[in-house]
Amino acid sequence: MSKLLVTGGAGFIGSNFVRYVLDNTEHSVTVLDKLTYAANVASLDGLDAQRFSLVKGDVKDAQIVDQLVSEHDAVIHYAAESHNDNSLEDPRPFIETNVVGTYTLLEAVRRFGVRYHHISTDEVYGDLTLDGVERFTEATPYNPSSPYSSTKAASDMLVRAWARSFGISATISNCSNNYGPYQHVEKFIPRQITNILSGVRPKLYGAGENVRDWIHASDHSAAVLQILEHGRIGETYLIGADGQKSNREVIGFILKILGRDKDDFDLVADRPGHDLRYAIDYSKLRTELGWTPRFSDFESGLTRTIQWYESNAWWWSPQKEATETRYASQNTQIRESKTSS
Ligand code: NAD
Ligand code: DAU
Repeated sequence: MSKLLVTGGAGFIGSNFVRYVLDNTEHSVTVLDKLTYAANVASLDGLDAQRFSLVKGDVKDAQIVDQLVSEHDAVIHYAAESHNDNSLEDPRPFIETNVVGTYTLLEAVRRFGVRYHHISTDEVYGDLTLDGVERFTEATPYNPSSPYSSTKAASDMLVRAWARSFGISATISNCSNNYGPYQHVEKFIPRQITNILSGVRPKLYGAGENVRDWIHASDHSAAVLQILEHGRIGETYLIGADGQKSNREVIGFILKILGRDKDDFDLVADRPGHDLRYAIDYSKLRTELGWTPRFSDFESGLTRTIQWYESNAWWWSPQKEATETRYASQNTQIRESKTSS
């Protein structure tokens, strides 16, 4: 039984990981979270107070980070500014949290000799051609496109340097696009689900042809736990679930599951620098650590996710108006409505 410090545990993937750990292990968890706009403390409702606690604080705050790191056996670092669109509007918080925050944690784990797992993204590798068959592997060169992905790439490089030069006990995982419960409504899938539930038409960037490789957040959590407990120190592992879908296909599934017309969406201005396709080869994780995803059928995982948003409007509706106000001030005018309504 270990004491885990989970940064960013009040966000989407971090809160899923905390629930996964408490349900499937005997570890205890402390969450360190700044509680930015992206956090929702309700995502941590109902957890066992004997094994779980939440500390409000910034990963850039060396004093609080040192104190907490010194009291735990392992750090799993999820905290980040995570949304590409926001990074195009204002990159500064991304540099501060994703780069300086990671540096602050690395110095603490170095000082106290604590095991560290770094959560990163497939976006550090840039993008793949739309019609190709290649996938990212651990050997793919870094080539990030956005302020968000470049700060994540920078943070990965810091971890590698601290492992090599200072010998910290670190592992890194780079995962593809997650979906599931507790995801902020700014992100693609929950934005479109909650648009439809609010009587607003879904918004597809560009021609909707970009491809993302979807994985359920619960599968991501299982993979991270496996790496934390059995991964080789100093190694990087890619996490994916063979879930490649174009954004149009995803919208098609959501409209079908919610009983709407298949063309009932708007095409809006494209995201600048929009990565075309991501695809993960997770052979290393499968062969070395025996991990495979449980949610292999995207449509059934998506159906469960849609049911969760239908049943939990209390969780997402307080964020919805502010999110859409923010989008309205960005460059997302409707270019084409697929059906007139
Ligand atoms: P999120 O935006 O939902 O949550 C981020 C959390 O970090 C929030 O609770 C926020 O309050 C907290 N946070 C932000 N700045 C902080 C700071 N300075 N100090 C302490 N806490 C702070 O993000 P997410 O989608 O859950 O992503 C979590 C991690 O997983 C990120 O590192 C992201 O890069 C990575 N990741 C995400 C995906 C995805 O599909 N969402 C895929 C691969 C990797
Ligand atoms: O690949 C992993 C990454 O996945 C993570 O590192 C990021 O933290 C996470 O946000 C996600 O990044 P994306 O930019 O791929 O996710 P997002 O949900 O913003 O968009 C998914 C796709 O949908 C992308 O091609 C842009 C498109 N999109 C997005 C929104 C919000 C739309 O077409 N319409 C929308 O309204």
